[in-house]
Amino acid sequence: MIISFVQTKGGTGKSTLALSTAFSNHMNSAFGSVALVELDPQGTLRNWWNERTELGRDTGRVSFHHISSSQKEVFADGIKAIATHNDLIVMDIPGESTGKLHTRFACAVSDLVIIPMRTSTNDEAAFADNLYPIIKEILKVDPGKKGCFYVLPSFTHPKANRDTIMGYFTDILPPHVGCLRTIYPDRSVYENFNREGATLADYAYSVRENKRHSKQALSAAGDVEEIARAITQMLEKEHVSAKKEEATLRG
Ligand SMILES: Nc1ncnc2c1ncn2[C@@H]1O[C@H](COP(=O)(O)OP(=O)(O)OP(=O)(O)O)[C@@H](O)[C@H]1O
Ligand SMILES: [Mg+2]
Repeated sequence: MIISFVQTKGGTGKSTLALSTAFSNHMNSAFGSVALVELDPQGTLRNWWNERTELGRDTGRVSFHHISSSQKEVFADGIKAIATHNDLIVMDIPGESTGKLHTRFACAVSDLVIIPMRTSTNDEAAFADNLYPIIKEILKVDPGKKGCFYVLPSFTHPKANRDTIMGYFTDILPPHVGCLRTIYPDRSVYENFNREGATLADYAYSVRENKRHSKQALSAAGDVEEIARAITQMLEKEHVSAKKEEATLRG
């Protein structure tokens, strides 16, 4: 299974979400081995991973892979090799500064594409102008990818009303782009938990004596577990409908 965090707009939480879901308890109990794959030449996650391993922090079932190239064949070969040894691949895709090659590749090969997006007209316009044309192109070539694209409402108020948010996205999203029934809230803890290669769980442990920080860390860990569960539910749903379609085609 391959999931990707994709958004041509920069700074929308893709890397933070990729590392946090790859290390979530839910993904680590649902999958035997998880590969966190960064296609971003900037290497945000590579630096984070290097710090983590240099400090001897536990990596559990997660392995890390950085693929930097300007050729889609290199990505394809890299992902194929990683897929032979891993049950789940979580891909972090760069924002728009590096062009759309990575985005196109990720949308084409992933079982599920998660698009972190704010409830803002800016994000809506950026999605319509940059990312949706790529999704449309892919759906034209491979209609089987319908149901693989989901927006994750992001940087919302932690207590925002979910129905209102879902309603907002249901109104603005084009055909074949759904909305996950969960949110990725705006919390200051996401800006600093990952120093020195830490995960949310490491951070929660390190601040366990501080009531306020500990509460923030646990809330964030709760968000991520919920996002991970929503993702696996969608993967199962897509898997079941793909199987049904296959059976119908076979007659
Ligand atoms: N839920 C959140 N609440 C508040 N700040 C966040 C949240 N998620 C991420 N951030 C912060 O927002 C910034 C951008 O996050 P991140 O690097 O994950 O985005 P990105 O989409 O990967 O960016 P790029 O497009 O440059 O790769 C970082 O400073 C990060 O710490
Ligand atoms: Mg990033």
